[in-house]
Amino acid sequence: MPDVRRAVCPGSYDPPTVGHLDVIARTAALFDEVFVAILVNPRKQGMFEIDERVQMLTEITADLPQVRVESFSGLVVDYCRERGAQALVKGLRGATDYDYELPMAHMNRHLTGVETMFLPGAPGQVYVSSSLVKEVARGGGDVTPFLPPSVHTRLVERLQG
Ligand code: PNS
Repeated sequence: MPDVRRAVCPGSYDPPTVGHLDVIARTAALFDEVFVAILVNPRKQGMFEIDERVQMLTEITADLPQVRVESFSGLVVDYCRERGAQALVKGLRGATDYDYELPMAHMNRHLTGVETMFLPGAPGQVYVSSSLVKEVARGGGDVTPFLPPSVHTRLVERLQG
């Protein structure tokens, strides 16, 4: 067994939701160090710049000392290797997530042996995704329950232009 158990929670986090934070906090309870890794995807224009996502995640995980927030580009397995992480941890909201995640979990294990662990999404959050939150917020719907307060403030500011 390695001395320090490290996990990576990768994602787009555009923006981070209460569901994301739940997975990160539960991962932090299980591992010595957790790297929240934001994918830099040049093919996808997000609502928030990568730096803003780093700031938001850093703010909402401030009470979790074992969590570090970073961005990465390229393959997540290479990022895990650079950080000495043995596991990827992801939240699963349902069967659709599972179908999407399973091939990646197998591929990542094939590539470097890194394991993927799934945590069941919090019951009240299983229908929440960053894209749905953005769509509802753009249409004027109330997304307060789904976002950490500081993230909600930024989203409102962004939509007000
Ligand atoms: O929040 P998302 O967009 O569902 O996160 C997807 C993410 C970033 C976890 C996934 O796309 C990923 O790991 N991308 C990094 C590139 C990579 O390693 N691709 C091969 C996966 S087998």
